[in-house]
Amino acid sequence: MSPLQVFARKKREQTPLAMIALSDAPAAQIACEAGIDAILVGDSLGNTALGFDSTIPVTMDDIAHHLQAVLRGVKASSRPEVPLIADMPFGSYATPEVGVQNAVRLMQLGAHGVKIEGTQSIDDSTGRVFELCQLAGIPVMGHIGFTPQSELQFENVVQGRTASDAGKLLEQAFTLQKAGCFALVLEAMTTQVAHQITAFLSVPTVGIGAGKNCSGQVLVWHDLVGITAKPFKMAHAFASTRQIWMDAIQSYCHEVESAQFPASENGWEMAPDAAQEWAEQRTRKERQKNEN
Ligand code: KIV
Repeated sequence: MSPLQVFARKKREQTPLAMIALSDAPAAQIACEAGIDAILVGDSLGNTALGFDSTIPVTMDDIAHHLQAVLRGVKASSRPEVPLIADMPFGSYATPEVGVQNAVRLMQLGAHGVKIEGTQSIDDSTGRVFELCQLAGIPVMGHIGFTPQSELQFENVVQGRTASDAGKLLEQAFTLQKAGCFALVLEAMTTQVAHQITAFLSVPTVGIGAGKNCSGQVLVWHDLVGITAKPFKMAHAFASTRQIWMDAIQSYCHEVESAQFPASENGWEMAPDAAQEWAEQRTRKERQKNEN
């Protein structure tokens, strides 16, 4: 049974699904132990783990590297069956053939499915990546609304403010469902539009900045645990760990400077007889040196 079935099951049961985007092994292990439904190795790792100011510089190698780390964290947890979706980064599906090759690579590394932003790859002349992925048996998650890889093409972050924009989003959602997507991320769109898309589609929607009427929600680890310095409106910090990390590092600096750390319990002592023997050896060597 595919671990991705949790998406359809939760939609059927009308229980909201909780997904998290993260990029390292300890975070993955913690998220699984905490009961997360699904993990996305998103290209937001460009902004979080890698410190870029957009997702454009993220490469296939970056996603592959972090996917493997996250996979190790999931496997080390008590819930190794948690589904793992890998993002297809900017440029990785510029042509359908390249797209399917890259999707195959992520699946072979252990992803259960891949996520592709936008509908360009269906609409324009390059379009067919969804079809090729279907043929190759690769589950694809769609992503519409604000799609960060094409941020330069958007006038505003929030989508679906006008009736015509709302109509286009609904059309895109249907197109992606028809193309075989097993779920859709709805990012930064008005709650009414996200609600209608969720009601009309048979596949589940996962919202971020799209209101509570989606089939599930997704947040980025750094936002959720409060590491992000400047919080985003569409995210919510469920803890403020930035200050906790800061306090811990300040205490460490202080204890190193004041020679309180490391304490005796952080190290190992030689047994007294070995220490004695070594001291005698040193004395003998010193004496021989003076005699020569
Ligand atoms: O890259 C990412 O983390 C994402 C989610 C915000 C949906 O695409």
